[in-house]
Amino acid sequence: GTVHYYDFVLKEINVTKLCANQSILTVNGLFPGPVIRVHKGDTVFVNLTNQGNYGVTIHWHGVKQPRNPWSDGPVFITQCPIKPGSNFTYEVIFSDEEGTLWWHAHSDWTRSTVHGAIVILPEEGTSYPFPEPDGEEIIVLGSWYTGDLNEEVNEDLEEGVDIPHSSGFLINGELGDFANCSRETTYRWSVDYGKTYLLRIVNAVSDDQIFFAVAEHNLTVVGLDAGYVKPFVTSYIMISPGQTMDVLLKANRPLGHYYMASREFLTETANQDHNNGTAIIEYTGDYNFSSSPIFPHQLPQILDMKAALRFTGFIRSLANEDYPVDVPTNITTRMYIAVSMNELCKNRTNCNVTAGPDNILASSMNNISWINPSVDVLQAYYRNMSGYFTADFPDRPLTMYNFTENTEETDLIMTDQGTRVKVLNYNETVEIVFQGTGLLNGAGVHPMHMHGHSFYVVGMGEGNFDNETDPLTYNLVDPPKANTFIVPKYGWLAIRFVASNPGVWFWHCHFDRHLTWGMDTVFIVKNGDTEATSILPPPPNMPICTGGYPEISI
Ligand code: C2O
Ligand code: CU
Repeated sequence: GTVHYYDFVLKEINVTKLCANQSILTVNGLFPGPVIRVHKGDTVFVNLTNQGNYGVTIHWHGVKQPRNPWSDGPVFITQCPIKPGSNFTYEVIFSDEEGTLWWHAHSDWTRSTVHGAIVILPEEGTSYPFPEPDGEEIIVLGSWYTGDLNEEVNEDLEEGVDIPHSSGFLINGELGDFANCSRETTYRWSVDYGKTYLLRIVNAVSDDQIFFAVAEHNLTVVGLDAGYVKPFVTSYIMISPGQTMDVLLKANRPLGHYYMASREFLTETANQDHNNGTAIIEYTGDYNFSSSPIFPHQLPQILDMKAALRFTGFIRSLANEDYPVDVPTNITTRMYIAVSMNELCKNRTNCNVTAGPDNILASSMNNISWINPSVDVLQAYYRNMSGYFTADFPDRPLTMYNFTENTEETDLIMTDQGTRVKVLNYNETVEIVFQGTGLLNGAGVHPMHMHGHSFYVVGMGEGNFDNETDPLTYNLVDPPKANTFIVPKYGWLAIRFVASNPGVWFWHCHFDRHLTWGMDTVFIVKNGDTEATSILPPPPNMPICTGGYPEISI
């Protein structure tokens, strides 16, 4: 593949939204940030210079980075922050990804403004598995926060209370016609009648699943998370935060202008005061602009769980001779992981399963709320530094609790904090069943994301996972392949992957609030027997964690 070089400069800029001026952190002064364009198999060096006010890291979401966890980015998992005034060069290694992905900050809540799309074209001389589109358009779905988000989040964490919700939804950085003081800047895209366009849609929203639709137009979904799917026609999509979708849009409606709109999909009634995010598609040509654009009335309502799951159920891998699936069938490691909302005890004096005064909000995997170590897990692992994590992420028998019951009366509400990782041998075949719970009235969906690998979504269902009957329903023929997928409310998600990428890989819910509260863990994939199946050596300029490191002792 070809080698590309990008310069990313992190800096604050002033923007006006919702009638107020505020400063946001950006890359190169752009919001959304710059697009990285490559062909499959290329390598990109991104030299990041931090001219902002606090330490930041960047993650290349969905790029597997074979043997190269050093450039993966999650703060205190694979690196320490790049401090203001310093720089770091990421080496982003593309392997089998083809389609659309994105990059985003992976430290604090900075990703709400520090993100951009990654376009991965087919290898030179090859083409898409669908007719060549006449044009393409990147659609980055975002969310807008008023005020200093990182500061507010830190205060709320300190007090153990809820974290702010966004004040609106963005399409390519703009709120659109329905938000205050936003009409002038609504994002507009012009299309020619009769042409077919490839929309590369990124859900960069910090904390919401999103419904998206275009008025009067159908969408043909052809890709998910930089892999191809069996094309299907739909009037709306539901996209999880972290996911990317490629869809074809044929501009075949009467000349005119049409809204595209984004709306959150929620599982509870709180916080539905948002306006829809909108942008406008304008046909080129002669017509009367005086009437306002048509709105996509097919956009499902905020609480429409059925619409969300119906859409998700349509997604299948392309699974043909040219794009075969390789779902592992001989599973060597099987795990059950409960993902839940919890409380934890701040100072161990006055806690109680039913809202003791010292309880703080938390979330967990198997009742462990992840806390970051002070030296990143990767350095600690690579250099054999003890005391930063333990290799004892707990497994859990599924029978111990009726997860779908909504109850306040259980010890499982309280979690422990820990930095407990799961270690896998090279090339182990893994199945994980994520089980949603109704602890703490906290039933909701969780978009689970894995770094370093994609996984097959072999099953999904309502209620408690049943080890006897549910595996019989698995799709091993053409399951969707993704790096992020939702665990349904009061339900379960079964995924499979081969641990073929040696390194240290984060696994977490892609809602920033749940990530922050601890719905995270780390999988370490050990080296194989040869150098070609081992972690690459670290690059020379890794940011140093506070306190430094000892010499590498083997
Ligand atoms: Cu898109 Cu760990 O994140
Ligand atoms: Cu979650």
